[in-house]
Amino acid sequence: MAATLFAVACSAPKSEIDRKVDDLLAQMTLHEKVGQMNQLSGGAWLADQAAKGEVGSILNCVDPAEINAVQKAAVEQSRLGIPILVSRDVIHGFRTIFPIPLGLAATFDPEIVEEGARIAAVEATASGVRWTFSPMLDVARDPRWGRVAEGSGEDPYLDVQMGVAMVKGYQGEDLSDPTAMAACIKHFVGYGAAEGGRDYNSTMISERSLRNTYFPAFKATAEAGAATLMTSFNEIDGIPSTGNKWLLKDILRDEWGWEGMVVTDWNSAGEMIAHGFSRDLKHTTEQAVNAGVDMDMMSYGFIQYIEELVKEGKISESEIDRAVRNILKLKFELGLFENPYVDETLSAKVDYAPEHLAAAKQTAIESAILLQNKGNVLPLDKAKTILVTGPLADAPHDQLGTWAFDGQKEHTVTPLAALRKEYNVIWEPGLAYSRDRNKSSFAKVRAAASRADAAVVFVGEEAILSGEAHSLSNLNLQGAQSELIAEVAKAGKPVVVVVIAGRPLTIERDLANCDAMLYSFHPGTMGGPALADLIKGKAVPSGKTPMTFLRDAGQAPFYYNHNNSGRPCNGTETLLEDIPAEAGQTSLGCTSYYLDTGYGPHLPFGYGLSYTTFEYGAPAVAEPVVGKDDVVKASVELKNTGKYEATEVVQLYVRDLVGSVVRPVKELKGFRRVTLAPGESANVEFELPVSDLAFWNIDMEYVVEPGDFQLWIAGDSASGAPVGFIVR
Ligand code: NOJ
Repeated sequence: MAATLFAVACSAPKSEIDRKVDDLLAQMTLHEKVGQMNQLSGGAWLADQAAKGEVGSILNCVDPAEINAVQKAAVEQSRLGIPILVSRDVIHGFRTIFPIPLGLAATFDPEIVEEGARIAAVEATASGVRWTFSPMLDVARDPRWGRVAEGSGEDPYLDVQMGVAMVKGYQGEDLSDPTAMAACIKHFVGYGAAEGGRDYNSTMISERSLRNTYFPAFKATAEAGAATLMTSFNEIDGIPSTGNKWLLKDILRDEWGWEGMVVTDWNSAGEMIAHGFSRDLKHTTEQAVNAGVDMDMMSYGFIQYIEELVKEGKISESEIDRAVRNILKLKFELGLFENPYVDETLSAKVDYAPEHLAAAKQTAIESAILLQNKGNVLPLDKAKTILVTGPLADAPHDQLGTWAFDGQKEHTVTPLAALRKEYNVIWEPGLAYSRDRNKSSFAKVRAAASRADAAVVFVGEEAILSGEAHSLSNLNLQGAQSELIAEVAKAGKPVVVVVIAGRPLTIERDLANCDAMLYSFHPGTMGGPALADLIKGKAVPSGKTPMTFLRDAGQAPFYYNHNNSGRPCNGTETLLEDIPAEAGQTSLGCTSYYLDTGYGPHLPFGYGLSYTTFEYGAPAVAEPVVGKDDVVKASVELKNTGKYEATEVVQLYVRDLVGSVVRPVKELKGFRRVTLAPGESANVEFELPVSDLAFWNIDMEYVVEPGDFQLWIAGDSASGAPVGFIVR
């Protein structure tokens, strides 16, 4: 199918842009071509290189005046006047910071995510940025990996929905619109499967697993028109992605027919030397270009060695033309030749616009997950005086999360500031920052809790504890935060804990010391007002966990859509405390589990409570037997049985019972956000094309295998009873 698309694209009449690219390419020297393939970090000081046509793109400059200065050098002084492509990591907002991508995924709301990406593009382009390195599509099943913060979590289907929404939002209707920002789908591929959750680490992923789990979001976003793609730092089965021709040519170009531009990650070409895949920078350059890379981010190898390599016959000029064609095409598509400069007065008019802040607040509301609410302590709608404590209550920098380079903390509204508008607040920080172990003010905090109607404790992670290069092996709350919660609990008042973090932490022990817990992945600029509305009851939580929450980091990686072992857990497992001393060796009747933490995770994927309660009926399918070209029509009766109007994320899961290769125990195949008034019911319907049940089978073919399936419709991945259907 994809191969056919490619063939059609090749034989189609040349577009206006293709003709412009050909004309320009024909005028370029090899040196100028190589210049286009060179991306450098910096601003105005790169003007000399730009004037010589030795830089095709810059990253990390967001000052419109500086951007215009480099652009002027490129456009007005270089021989051919080719404009510079200005890029930046705009990951979850530019100035107005939205929740981190893991928090965006927790909304299960692609529409609001698309709107956020659009706003990010409007603000970033107003500063002159026309290319963002987002979305990160790495399926991440190990919360020790710091970069789980930057993606959509563990599920390939949710990853597809969020990734496509972001691409659409960034790029808008047409790349030539001055507010359109080219997306970059990254990191191709498997980067999130780093062994042990250690960033940059090796991965071992089979081709089938790549195709079934790690490719889908890349393929879907490529089909949705993502303009660029970034290679990943990791190696898979011994081959670093930046030098992997199978990935960059055979899959991406020949199989998927994608025609965008490929950039390396920061010096990922150079890092192939440390991997032991390349002898030196010249060798990495040869390998990266021949594998299919178009642009080099910061290895400096392309600009130094490509001309030599071409002369030596190690890289053909047609590879160079391919790369430069992809780069020029994007520049034409973005309209950079017509409008290379940014209006230097624009950003002041659009940054932090009221509607941007309102969207960021609504997104933060939707992304918060209610994990516990004993005795319906939340919302605190009757309390007058509350104790606010904890290191994340008033941490304007940290609530922005990782990759918030351009969000300014002066614009952050913290929970403390927002709660002061709702309550008589007693403020005792308790700890200065999340790793703080100084408990000297705990007695004061406890005394303050006794004077309040309720206590709200804001704990979690500083922004720097997640994101790139920030993996952890221990996922408990850092410093003395757990002790702070326990101390507050001693006052005997209702205790609400709000966790603001970059990953799912192991918080089981902390749940035992509080009545209610809201989990908010770093919520961004408007996180404070969003959380205050949820605490007060002006809004009702609807977020769901985009990753499994573990009992202990030692369980990682643990994800709901795993394959079954031959000895799945059956609930009769012997735990450490049940084993007598000097017990004889036995494996008979034993299953796949841990002696200390048992089998199950702490909280399943898709989990999240509400202030109301939802009752699910049994799922039904319209036809128990369907053909391969049919659509499964499934439905469930959902009733709001509580007291609040609220939104439920209704999730549809499927299991293919027997396959030519082992199939996951459950797979998310659909979800819908459904809002119901108290007492209201709805028949929630899904249409699941049978073709969505296809997978890469024993013969490495993408097929639907006939047979028995089970289907669940529930509020999380661990609830409900299935209904069966058959595919003939
Ligand atoms: C390295 C990161 O891995 C990548 O995600 C980012 O886009 C680049 N640096 C550029 O900052």
